[in-house]
Amino acid sequence: MMFFQILFALSFLFSFSNASNFCVGDLNAPQGPAGYSCKMAETVSVNDFVFSGLRAAGNTSNLTKAAITPASSTQFPGVNGLGISLARQDFAVGGRTTMHTHPEAMEIVIVIQGTKHCI
Ligand SMILES: *[C@@H]1O[C@H](CO)[C@@H](O)[C@H](O)[C@H]1NC(C)=O
Ligand SMILES: *[C@@H]1O[C@H](CO)[C@@H](O)[C@H](O)[C@H]1NC(C)=O
Repeated sequence: MMFFQILFALSFLFSFSNASNFCVGDLNAPQGPAGYSCKMAETVSVNDFVFSGLRAAGNTSNLTKAAITPASSTQFPGVNGLGISLARQDFAVGGRTTMHTHPEAMEIVIVIQGTKHCI
């Protein structure tokens, strides 16, 4: 069992150690529909795969009493071109999100904390 855990960890590390498998976004390059151009492999760093901005609650002092903190390739270059992104959305009491659609993406919402509040 331990062997498989180690093997899995190693294969995970190897897959991340070869930066050419990834197209880490070059935030200084223009962004196209498929994302950013790839950074030169020798300039890729561990920081491209780390994003801690979702820890802090967003500022909900506005009309919608809501705040969105995105973690897409602009904030988190390691997800560039993978077709995934994350976001944190905070709502104050009575907060709401405006009507919108996601025509080219799926959205999974996980409620971490809160109570049902009917207005
Ligand atoms: C939250 O946003 C409001 C309105 O922009 C601002 O006045 C306030 O200082 C902000 N609060 C924090 C904690 O950043
Ligand atoms: C205000 O509302 C907008 C739209 O929901 C949101 O993106 C933003 O983060 C909110 N907070 C502030 C301080 O603008």
